[in-house]
Amino acid sequence: MKEETLTKDAIASRHPRSPSALLALLHDLQTANAGNCLTPDDLALAASHVGLPLSAVRDAATFYSMFSLRPRGRHIVRLCESPNCHLAGAWSALAELRRVLGVDIGETTPDGLFTLELTSCLGACGVAPVMMVDDEVVGNLTPARVRETLARYRGER
Ligand code: FES
Repeated sequence: MKEETLTKDAIASRHPRSPSALLALLHDLQTANAGNCLTPDDLALAASHVGLPLSAVRDAATFYSMFSLRPRGRHIVRLCESPNCHLAGAWSALAELRRVLGVDIGETTPDGLFTLELTSCLGACGVAPVMMVDDEVVGNLTPARVRETLARYRGER
């Protein structure tokens, strides 16, 4: 069953009532939202479900870069800015991302399809420079590979 067809309570019920389930629960709640973000109701539900104070849940949601409290695009493009990727040419990939998407870091394309973000090491340094589009790791980035990947997510290929 797709996430968006489940109620938030049904999503929560698939996770243990334990603080250790917090990050997975937040991930699933965020994925279920059209804006690819966590709402205040999501944070309250997560806090109640795993038995943590709301402030602790909000801290987790703001600490980890994969979560957002602001609406984002349907696809999240996250370029690694850590040293290995930087040295391997991440900034030319970033220039191409900015050019093709027409947005800057932290912004969403006007059609709501992509949000561009930076992130720390994605654990794929062997294929630096690296970006993630949603859950897909895309390595050995070149401007051409950036264009091809974005075109695929736009359904152009
Ligand atoms: S430094 Fe970019 S993936 Fe590790």
